[in-house]
Amino acid sequence: MFFHILITLFATVLTQTYEPTWESIDSRPLPDWYDNSKFGIFMHWGVYCVPGYRSEWFWWHWQGENDPNCTEYMAKNYAPGYTYAQFANDFRAEFFDADAFREIVEASGAKYFVFTSKHHEGYTMWPSKVSWNWNSVDIGPKIDVIDALKKAFAKTDIHFGLYFSLYEWFNPQYMQDTQKNTTDYVDQISYPQLLDIVNTYQPEVVWSDGDWDMTAEYWKSKEFIAWLYNESPVKDTVVVNDRWGRGVMGVHGGYLTYEDNYIAGTLLARKWENCDSLDQYSWGGRRTMRSGDVLSVHDAIAELAQTIACNGNFLLNVGPDMHGKIPPLLEERLRQIGDFVKANAEAVYGTHPWAYQSDLNNVWYTSNLRNDNLPKQRVWNPQDQQNTIIYAWLIDVNLTEYTLQNVKVVDQTKVTILSTGTELSKSKGSNGELIVNLDKVPWEKLVRIDVLVLKIEYAQSDSHDPLASPTPTSALGEESKKPRDFKSLRQKDVEILSHSLK
Ligand SMILES: *[C@@H]1O[C@H](CO)[C@@H](O)[C@H](O)[C@H]1NC(C)=O
Ligand SMILES: *[C@@H]1O[C@H](CO)[C@@H](O)[C@H](O)[C@H]1NC(C)=O
Ligand SMILES: *[C@@H]1O[C@H](CO)[C@@H](O)[C@H](O)[C@H]1NC(C)=O
Repeated sequence: MFFHILITLFATVLTQTYEPTWESIDSRPLPDWYDNSKFGIFMHWGVYCVPGYRSEWFWWHWQGENDPNCTEYMAKNYAPGYTYAQFANDFRAEFFDADAFREIVEASGAKYFVFTSKHHEGYTMWPSKVSWNWNSVDIGPKIDVIDALKKAFAKTDIHFGLYFSLYEWFNPQYMQDTQKNTTDYVDQISYPQLLDIVNTYQPEVVWSDGDWDMTAEYWKSKEFIAWLYNESPVKDTVVVNDRWGRGVMGVHGGYLTYEDNYIAGTLLARKWENCDSLDQYSWGGRRTMRSGDVLSVHDAIAELAQTIACNGNFLLNVGPDMHGKIPPLLEERLRQIGDFVKANAEAVYGTHPWAYQSDLNNVWYTSNLRNDNLPKQRVWNPQDQQNTIIYAWLIDVNLTEYTLQNVKVVDQTKVTILSTGTELSKSKGSNGELIVNLDKVPWEKLVRIDVLVLKIEYAQSDSHDPLASPTPTSALGEESKKPRDFKSLRQKDVEILSHSLK
């Protein structure tokens, strides 16, 4: 008893409290699980999957900007006067099985899962008391979807997170606030909803969005995050992103997202996240999706490598349909991504960026320390001949001999294929660089997507500091830049919306 009191006292003294200021909020170290996870699955699911046309922004395209394609789609397929709200009647999700979703996410190799509790349409996937008749229990599936998913994921080691849209396009209270400088919508809807989802479902990620038209002061974001970090049931494990008010994205919060599909390209000292959607044209389920619209396994793995090499996490999105199914093509992609990630797990989970991020011919690096005696919160691993293990991700394997300029070879240096342990022969270039011969790669034993992960041990020590002198993109050659310029329709939508609300 006495001992217990002592421990409690001690813990109280050690507990850091955070002030509702960006300076204080930004000073909180991210809980380790987030960086260690590297890879997460994002899921956009809401009423928008019923029209399933254009994207999850359908309502906005149709009635916010009178897009002729959407108007025509409605005129052709629905009775005159049909409202967006009526789509919810058809959102029956009759084949929804939380365990099926959970199993697919597990198969993908992801270590966290972020689910849309509410998107910009305002429909909540839980029985929000302040979203009467516009939530998944009152209308649509007639179940608390978040609760079902939370329970399914509780059986796994996958961290459960929630996305939340601060604004709602057509909420009359929100529209009044933007015009009359009142705060009714925040006080009565968005703030209570944030507290509700955290207290009820205890998410370990709060992924905020829809913030851009109003200030963080309007959203009471700093008060919310201080509460989240000091008092909430997830205060020790929760992470948040950076979309908390106009001008905040890319600057303040927990980890930084910058914009959708952001890929840094060079090492960033602050933890960041690249979110991208398997369907390159929509985050929500889309009936007109074609196979060519979907990110390939190769490109998803290439994005993962480039992201984690530079201190990012990769959050890959999938949008289920109105029946409660993940489209089989997307399911297959996730399983195949998982096959590769699991075969190369050692180069993914719990790694750190290396002293160099990339090399010629689209090669990206991650690393581990044999004896990890450095502070956990470090950004990168220095190169120490005895201690550092380098993982070289060869993204487009099309050469029989690879020259890795940034890896300096000594006699002891050992190069193996990570997933099979096959040792490869090496030689030394004129500047001491490592040349690896790929003639002996047992392709038949590999998950074949033209990406090969090499494990390199006992390379020469090197004092290069990537934060002091980042590898200039120009020195990498054209090949080493990002394989595609990921530009989704969504970013354009954001600009259009911001413009039209002014
Ligand atoms: C409307 O549909 C046409 C034909 O499919 C397409 O070319 C055009 O880009 C669409 N417009 C918008 C705004 O999406
Ligand atoms: C809006 O309200 C806030 C606080 O109620 C006040 O500080 C601010 O000056 C107001 N802005 C305008 C443009 O009226
Ligand atoms: C090999 O891959 C690199 C990197 O993607 C590319 O730039 C190059 O053109 C490819 N070479 C051949 C011979 O296909």
